[in-house]
Amino acid sequence: MIRAIDWEAFKELRGGEKREYFMRDGNIFHVVMAQQFDRPFLDYICDLTTKIRGIAKGNQGMLFLQSLLQTKRAMLYFVQPSTRTFLSFMSACQILGMRCSEVRDPTTSSEMKGETQEDTVRTFSSYVDLTIMRHVQERFAEKMAWLLNQTGRPVSVINAGSGKDQHPTQALLDIYTLHRSFENYGGIDGKAIAMIGDLLRGRTVRSLTYLLKNYDGVKIYFVAPRGLQMGEDLKDYLRENDVDFEESENLDEIIPLVDALYMTRIQDEYDQGDESKKIDYSKFHFTGDHLKLLKPNAIIMHPLPRRAEIRPEVDQDRRAMYWRQVRNGMWVRVALIAKIFLADREIMNY
Ligand code: NCD
Repeated sequence: MIRAIDWEAFKELRGGEKREYFMRDGNIFHVVMAQQFDRPFLDYICDLTTKIRGIAKGNQGMLFLQSLLQTKRAMLYFVQPSTRTFLSFMSACQILGMRCSEVRDPTTSSEMKGETQEDTVRTFSSYVDLTIMRHVQERFAEKMAWLLNQTGRPVSVINAGSGKDQHPTQALLDIYTLHRSFENYGGIDGKAIAMIGDLLRGRTVRSLTYLLKNYDGVKIYFVAPRGLQMGEDLKDYLRENDVDFEESENLDEIIPLVDALYMTRIQDEYDQGDESKKIDYSKFHFTGDHLKLLKPNAIIMHPLPRRAEIRPEVDQDRRAMYWRQVRNGMWVRVALIAKIFLADREIMNY
């Protein structure tokens, strides 16, 4: 374990340098940022997820999964809107037999009496073994993991979305979806992947970009309106890790080149004024006509919720993967929680 240091110094460390801080006895303990995962871990989580899905097909298997973490409790602290991520974490915990409590509205907690967020998180972490959190503040989960590590009773933290910054478990389910889709086509290595939309403020595309550096020969196309292109920090990360990428504003030109399209909505909840309204986002919408341009084995992804980025008529196409992503998300989260609590061996031996 790296030495406990103050938050300011810890904050300055780069993702990889913090890895040890998120581990316990060589195992994943906190899930905070995508940079903490390496290729063996990603391959293992994909295998574990597939194994769990197989086990869950039968009643006996479901009962086995439910027996694994019956003595553990989880807290879901979701103070930013969420449908899928909240429900899939809740379902994942329940599949493993865990009991869950939740805070979704900070106006019902003692934060309203002036308690700091740090004290609030420390309080509810006293009752549970795992805290899953979504927060509008960037690096919130990271700070809480750091804070809990300084206490006598640290519990695992999972980041379920931290402002514009990261959404590492969404990135894991995206990797699982890509892995399954390309299983018979050489895997994720060597694939061309386009990310489309508000890349500056979209945390899903940021976390996924970090994960893609673990795959050989990947090419990433960032297709975004001017002003919403992928952040310099991520582009520097790709350059340092020799990942090939290109920026574009022209969706039609990029569609025929790629194996996967990752569509996203405009993240206007982070607007300072009305800047989003000035952008013609319709140029970054995928329509039924675009299907003709797409390679036969390419896939269309979206973290959801969508607005008009993908027209409903596209849903019927076999290359549309976004509803499958929703389902995959639950199973990947089962795998991740099982891994954190060291129940994965038992699953693999089932
Ligand atoms: C995303 C999020 O919250 O970042 N949703 C999700 O978790 N699936 C994407 C979004 O809100 O646009």
